[in-house]
Amino acid sequence: MDSQEVWTETYLQKRLSEEPLAKEAFLWYWLEKNALAEDYEIPEIVDTALSHSDIFPRSQVMRIWVHEKGNLSSWHYDANMISVFNVQVTGRKKWSLISPETPLCCYPFSNFAILDGKGDDIFHNKIYTHFELNEGDMLFLPPLWFHQVEACEAENVSLNWVFTKKETQITTSAFKRDYERYYFVSYFSRHKYPIYRTIAKQLNALLPSYLRAKWTYQEIIKTSHNVNLSILALRMLKELASIAFVLRHFNKIKPYRKTIKPVKRLAR
Ligand SMILES: [Fe+2]
Repeated sequence: MDSQEVWTETYLQKRLSEEPLAKEAFLWYWLEKNALAEDYEIPEIVDTALSHSDIFPRSQVMRIWVHEKGNLSSWHYDANMISVFNVQVTGRKKWSLISPETPLCCYPFSNFAILDGKGDDIFHNKIYTHFELNEGDMLFLPPLWFHQVEACEAENVSLNWVFTKKETQITTSAFKRDYERYYFVSYFSRHKYPIYRTIAKQLNALLPSYLRAKWTYQEIIKTSHNVNLSILALRMLKELASIAFVLRHFNKIKPYRKTIKPVKRLAR
């Protein structure tokens, strides 16, 4: 990279389009380790975390986000129990975080919160924080923390490194729900009767891509939380009961969906 060049959207579009180790996801670009490697150095703390034997191996460890001013993410926590090192490369973003100790109510079986977060009501009785990330700042986001992020400058580029630990000591209700929803989907998608596998697959395919169950690890996280069929049945009932909550807040769904902007397609 020329020392005068920065990660503008135009530069990234060009480089990512030529980069075989990069591909577009819905909201970001996935990169395998070493993609665009001449453009940055991996901080030591990140390198140590990514090379540790206690994390699930994955080929795509980096994400690049490109947002214009005003882009506001929906309230959610990141799926797959990922921990995230998030570097603000250019621009500036306002972050709001809510602890998984005081979780928000989510759409059934999803990691997206029902409330759109406009107004401060969402923080009532919650453990939360707000801050800005400026160029060169790095944030470590632990698993299951709810967040909403607003892009503040004309162009805002963030680089993430993500990983999932093989074992967790976390026992919050947010973790239990996430673990059970994974287990539930996994149970039916691997069921011995093909009819259940087909129904699970087709129901999942009906959902918009950002709500689909995509926990792809072959192994399950080691935890002291034991799941059995009655716990799964109770989980299903709780999730179905939240449909009533969704219907009560139905008017908020449309503006909420508008805030999710897919990344531009790479020229290939
Ligand atoms: Fe996120």
